[in-house]
Amino acid sequence: MLTFPSASIKAFHKGIYYPRAPEALLDILQDMDNPFSPTRKNIEEGSKVYFGKGLCVKCHGVNGKGLEVSGHPPRNFTDPKWQDVRTDGEMMWVLKNGSPGTSMPIRVGRGISEEEAWKVILFIRTFAGI
Ligand code: HEC
Repeated sequence: MLTFPSASIKAFHKGIYYPRAPEALLDILQDMDNPFSPTRKNIEEGSKVYFGKGLCVKCHGVNGKGLEVSGHPPRNFTDPKWQDVRTDGEMMWVLKNGSPGTSMPIRVGRGISEEEAWKVILFIRTFAGI
């Protein structure tokens, strides 16, 4: 077969609440605290990364709801249930590894630093409940 059917790509993950990081790492990632606290300054720095060099806005949109891209849809950051089930450590794993089987790219080390990634996660939290 020449092309990988997109239905299978979508089926790769059971649903948006299902963890993206490998199961073997989940305990560690879920225990991991964001080393930066959600101060106004840190959130503002995170927002600059989101709208700027992180390129996040190109897929996740100005309001965090996600734009239409081909294949697997970007996460809707305003979904309170998703915000609740996903930890900062798990998001960091995705920013370092991408989300395999989707267009979510590796970001840490490809334009943004680990510190900037932690701060962009603080910014993503501000979309909760919008
Ligand atoms: C080329 C498009 C694209 C760009 C650029 C992009 N994302 Fe994503 N992102 C996606 C897609 C598609 C998903 C859904 C992946 C999935 O369901 O596993 C996603 C999912 C996520 C998730 C949720 C993962 C989870 O565990 O549920 C986070 C967090 C995230 N992106 C953060 C970011 C940040 C921060 C940036 C910028 C530094 C960024 N993304 C840039 C497309 C993109």
